[in-house]
Amino acid sequence: MTLTEKDSQYLWHPYTQHKTAQRPIAITKAEGVLLWDEDGKEYIDAIASWWVNPFGHSNKYIADAIYKQLTTLEHVLFGGFTHEPAVKIAEKLIEILPKNQQKIFFSDNGSTAVEVAIKVALQYFFNKNEKRTTIIAFENAFHGDTFAAMAASGISFYTQAFQGMFIDVVRIPVPIEGKEQTSFEALENTIKNNNCAGFIFEPLVQGAAGMVMYKPESLAKLIQICKENKVLTIADEVMTGFGKTGKTFAMDYVLEEPDMICLSKALTGGTIPMAITTFTQDIFDAFYDDDINKALFHGHTFTANPTGCAAALASIDLLLTDEMQRNIERINKNHLEFQRKVEKHPKVLTARVLGVIFAVEIKSDSSESYYGSMRTKLYNFFIDKGVVLRPVGNIVYILPPYIMTDEQLQKVYNTIEEAIEMV
Ligand SMILES: Cc1ncc(COP(=O)(O)O)c(C=O)c1O
Repeated sequence: MTLTEKDSQYLWHPYTQHKTAQRPIAITKAEGVLLWDEDGKEYIDAIASWWVNPFGHSNKYIADAIYKQLTTLEHVLFGGFTHEPAVKIAEKLIEILPKNQQKIFFSDNGSTAVEVAIKVALQYFFNKNEKRTTIIAFENAFHGDTFAAMAASGISFYTQAFQGMFIDVVRIPVPIEGKEQTSFEALENTIKNNNCAGFIFEPLVQGAAGMVMYKPESLAKLIQICKENKVLTIADEVMTGFGKTGKTFAMDYVLEEPDMICLSKALTGGTIPMAITTFTQDIFDAFYDDDINKALFHGHTFTANPTGCAAALASIDLLLTDEMQRNIERINKNHLEFQRKVEKHPKVLTARVLGVIFAVEIKSDSSESYYGSMRTKLYNFFIDKGVVLRPVGNIVYILPPYIMTDEQLQKVYNTIEEAIEMV
């Protein structure tokens, strides 16, 4: 039996209707931006394996750091204990995050980073004896698949089976061009009519919605409104963090600072699952008390796993090198050039770029759904050509590892142009 056949016998994959889905591709090796399957076919990973892998697969610098940590202190419980890799990653993050971020809390993945942030927003007011139980989120947001993260997410087919079982969430429009005022007014009205604890958002780019982009000035205005009303703000940088938008964090473009930041994905360069939620001193202080009931009773077995911390430290080292920063700029320039070219195509509705993120919307009939027929056709075309791209409905996006060469990028662009002709 091949790996793929054995997989079908035993495994259940994420976001997959196994009755209708094609069999998964069995990858046996990965290096740099390339993947190889069990038949030896080569693929360019143009989405950095769900946006986690900026420095390339099987990266030696990160692997060496992980090996060294594994053979020194692989794991120790974080309840009542601490260790150097956790302290070092905290010091490093506090140095590079927006200045008001002062406390670091570890968890395991993007959803748990969000879960922690939402629980903290709700308990912050509970600890202060204020009744504030509503969370504000954007339409079409995606914050993960655990319960509070799902409640905050607005893409309905991910959450429809659980409607009615969620914490209170009110959704407001994203301030995309032309919708800014509607978004500001919706936020003001929501705050006026509900007891709002927090506002969670994907800063500047909504990833899973199809790389929907909006301006830093609009986000600054929304944060200001929250601040005036003492509503806590949560920047979910799980996708945008660590260079994707062209700056280390998307919030680096925004003049207002958020109260909390969620980090995961590229945090460990695509090696070890780990997440971090960061907080202001004011938030920490609301839990700091003689009363044990005011503590944050949240934790995971692998909290602050030293090996994950070592991977994160090595990843941040790589991100901050001049070479990686130049790569980010180079990819951005290539994207802008391709945007100018492709947006003139008669079958293209619009194209957009921020940092290393590129997205093109192909004209389609308005009923084109997230996992609809155009998406399947495009996905299969790309796989056939040896390029890993996962379109969202009629939107094709690229989020490459930063080390992708100009030639490899050109191959991805050419394949997208061919796909636009094909559909
Ligand atoms: C903005 C954002 N938040 C949270 C998550 C959830 O992360 P994870 O899949 O690691 O749980 C994602 C995943 O795509 C995301 O894009």
